[in-house]
Amino acid sequence: MHRFSASDAIDSRTASLLRDARTSTWEPAGYVRDMYQRRRSQQVTELAWSIASGSVYAEQTGLEVASRLLEETDDYATKLILATAVNDEAKHSYAFQEFALLAGGSVKPPSERTQELFDTLFGYENSTERFLAHTLMEGYAADEFIFFTAAFGAESLGDLYGLIRRDESRHVAMGMHRLCARDTQGTTQISLLPPERIDAVEKSCRELAAPTVIGDLVARLLPSKNADEVSAWISRRHATRVTALKASAFTAA
Ligand SMILES: [Fe+2]
Ligand SMILES: [Fe+2]
Repeated sequence: MHRFSASDAIDSRTASLLRDARTSTWEPAGYVRDMYQRRRSQQVTELAWSIASGSVYAEQTGLEVASRLLEETDDYATKLILATAVNDEAKHSYAFQEFALLAGGSVKPPSERTQELFDTLFGYENSTERFLAHTLMEGYAADEFIFFTAAFGAESLGDLYGLIRRDESRHVAMGMHRLCARDTQGTTQISLLPPERIDAVEKSCRELAAPTVIGDLVARLLPSKNADEVSAWISRRHATRVTALKASAFTAA
């Protein structure tokens, strides 16, 4: 029998993240069209079109994984959080599609890397591993979007990455919070994973995100940036999230 819940299952941090999610309201097609009209550069580069096309599928992957996680959990607060993420990712994918259509007349086909991301996230048999991997990959995306915002500003795609980054940062905070939130027995979801599985998931995320590839791409987009420094910064931010998650996993209530 399904276990129904009431709103008293929602802690204040979850409630505040939900409030933030519910105030993020924008209509993707209209927003992208207006933004595209106001672009400062008439020339939209092939790279902007390619990256926007890739984001259509990356966001679709986020949508699929968040909806799978929603089905897999019976924690009410986590369900509410994931419901906002499902809505956000659907909007993000649609917005990037609108941009790709305006910029290049079509959405380029997905890359092998996108397929690999999808297969990895759906390959976990354990839902907590999937939630951990999803949260870590959202962290990488949110950090990468900082550079895309700066690089593609004049082509208007940067404004879209800036807007979407706000949602992605919230998704990271939501994932971190729900993985580390204590239930009535004082147990956190992350602590259900053995240390070696946390390490294995972390390693597969690191390999998928490939910080050195991100560094090289950013240096190509923004010549003032040094690829190694960007890669090291991305890796440090990821390590900070992993440290916080591990602290929660290995600390008793
Ligand atoms: Fe997204
Ligand atoms: Fe997201």
